[in-house]
Amino acid sequence: MTQATTQTETKAEGFEPRIVAFVCNWCTYAGADLAGTSRLQYAPHVRIVKLPCTGRIDPLFILKAYEGGADAVLVSGCHPGDCHYTSGNYHARRRWTIFRRLLSLAGVEEGRLFFSWVSAAEGQKFADLINDVTAQVKAAGPFKHNPARRQAW
Ligand code: FES
Repeated sequence: MTQATTQTETKAEGFEPRIVAFVCNWCTYAGADLAGTSRLQYAPHVRIVKLPCTGRIDPLFILKAYEGGADAVLVSGCHPGDCHYTSGNYHARRRWTIFRRLLSLAGVEEGRLFFSWVSAAEGQKFADLINDVTAQVKAAGPFKHNPARRQAW
């Protein structure tokens, strides 16, 4: 076993990550709903915040989530070309690409913000996504920049 593996396992030990998922109403939320009605198993570490469209997600929402105790944030919406409002997801993707680079200035390490497309028909993809994000955040360990934050959850 390598030293890196040992450190990763140590970080993950007993750590239950808190992940905030900002999802659009028309695709990813419906995909999450499908995962639920299909009784698919996925990690219980995610709090879903439903918005009309990913284009509505202000970067401040993401910073507020970290400030409020999130260890990671997931943004997910309709696939390119499928946005209910035509181009909201393209705006979100552009905003996210820039915002992601600025996050380090706010003290948030890479690997704590995730972006994905999940359609209403992709319940399994939603479940897999949540499991994957949870595993990555567990490996990264708790978000340490706001030690008092965990009491808020
Ligand atoms: Fe889903 Fe715009 S409605 S991303």
